[in-house]
Amino acid sequence: MTALEDWDDGPFRPEAVTVRVPAKINLSLSVGPLRADGYHELVTVFHAVSLYDEVIARAARGLSLTVEPLRRDSDVGGVPDDERNLAWRAALLLAEHAGVEPDVRLTVRKDIPVAGGMAGGSADAAAALVACDHLWGTGLRRDELHDLAGRLGSDVPFALHGGTAIGTGRGEHISPVLAAAGMEWVIAVMDGGLSTPKVFEACDLLRSRDGVTPDAPQVHPDLMSTLRSGDTERIGAALYNDLQPAAVELMPEIGELLDLGATAGAAGTLVSGSGPTTVFLVDGPVSAAEVEEQLRASGLCRAVRRARGPVPGAQVSNVR
Ligand code: C5P
Repeated sequence: MTALEDWDDGPFRPEAVTVRVPAKINLSLSVGPLRADGYHELVTVFHAVSLYDEVIARAARGLSLTVEPLRRDSDVGGVPDDERNLAWRAALLLAEHAGVEPDVRLTVRKDIPVAGGMAGGSADAAAALVACDHLWGTGLRRDELHDLAGRLGSDVPFALHGGTAIGTGRGEHISPVLAAAGMEWVIAVMDGGLSTPKVFEACDLLRSRDGVTPDAPQVHPDLMSTLRSGDTERIGAALYNDLQPAAVELMPEIGELLDLGATAGAAGTLVSGSGPTTVFLVDGPVSAAEVEEQLRASGLCRAVRRARGPVPGAQVSNVR
């Protein structure tokens, strides 16, 4: 018997798989009318930034989940550790699809702001899909994972994809966009979150109060050419979010922070998704420091972070 045959004792089954997954912001978010299924037709430009959650999938009997902070100052308040957690549902959906038992111990290590409009829960679901697929050796194709992701939530497919991409439908149809590398962001994290459905609802209410009938959603052509140019000032001026007035109405401090960031010299200011996180596009470290200092001094936010984008989507970072 050769040494190689000695070696062959079946496929390698890892004990633990770690997946790192980024937060997203929306460089543009154009919200159309409410559809019959309760979702809004939208067109958005997703952009993955370097704030990360980690999901560890360990071999186990049965399904269990724990949530913990990734850094000492990360907040995990209110994140469920049962079937209400999208990562739990992701593991179940994958197991059902692949015809395996959902045997996994999931640890969700959070740094992405909770209920912040940065798709942290969706990111964890995408990471759980990738981690369990690896742990169980189910080997799904990219398009199969993408399909399962879309069934879990509107933002989950993008968390798999990463980079900069257009999202259509309710956000789940993704196509990549050519964008210059190396945008720098200052991110203001609020105490407390906003519920995504409530912000969409407030957007509809504001529109009906103002007698506005939304057009079909679209990406402004200027934004697309500007993104390729890499010109920070032009990109900053082209950022927009139809949910911003609703988020500001629900949490007026958001408006104050946006004004502060602009006065401090940010090239662009924006509510991330449904908020309440606000993001500030800056041109280099001097501008970043100035914006960061002003936001901190305001006393309006829980934390101020820096990040860059675009970065890749959910990726296996460790296997043992
Ligand atoms: O798809 P997901 O579960 O992340 O969506 C959460 C909620 O946000 C939906 O139930 C809906 O109220 C709102 N939403 C929407 N239109 C979208 C995406 C989300 O109205 N395109």
